[in-house]
Amino acid sequence: MRALIVYESLYGNTHIVANSIAAGLRDKACDVTVVPVSRATPEMAIHTDLLVAGGPTHVHGMTSGSTRRMAAEVAMKAGSGLSLEPDAAGPGMRDWLHDLGSVQAIPAAAFDTRLDGSPILTGHASGGIAHRLRRHGYHLVVPAESFLVSKQNALLEDEAERAKSWGEALAFAAGPIGHVPAS
Ligand SMILES: Cc1cc2nc3c(=O)[nH]c(=O)nc-3n(C[C@H](O)[C@H](O)[C@H](O)COP(=O)(O)O)c2cc1C
Repeated sequence: MRALIVYESLYGNTHIVANSIAAGLRDKACDVTVVPVSRATPEMAIHTDLLVAGGPTHVHGMTSGSTRRMAAEVAMKAGSGLSLEPDAAGPGMRDWLHDLGSVQAIPAAAFDTRLDGSPILTGHASGGIAHRLRRHGYHLVVPAESFLVSKQNALLEDEAERAKSWGEALAFAAGPIGHVPAS
């Protein structure tokens, strides 16, 4: 099974999660491509059996141009301890999903990173990502998942391992046994 993981990441945590999900999928014999959203083209999604999309939660949902600028400003402040990903500039997940072509029931999954806390308070970007994937005809084979960061923007302990396990479960759900195409 060929899987494409498209991720958006400003500070690197969603990138780590994307790589961990890829490791889980590869453990289940999937052929996985991981690409930052700024370098992903809608055409890349055409020849894939499983599309996985994820990004950071900003202002309770998906990033926008203004929240990405805010994130960059925060990182540039002296003593922030944050560094911007080399691929942070450019269009985000929202734009990429907007331009994505329509398909018929291709398996897909959505994830995000967000602060540790009740999702009612933090919001979660994966809801918006999942909604847009569905609108393009993708079949979400597992519920959207969040991976947690601290207030200092560090991925919580064990979250990378949990992302790997999620990738393994995803391979099963999207595979010939687990995948039930939407009618
Ligand atoms: C401008 C901005 C707004 C944010 N808003 C939220 C939010 O509403 N809820 C939340 O849980 N986390 C919020 N965060 C924290 C991000 O979710 C966190 O920085 C992100 O998950 C880290 O992922 P990354 O390292 O891949 O960029 C915000 C961060 C920034 C920079």
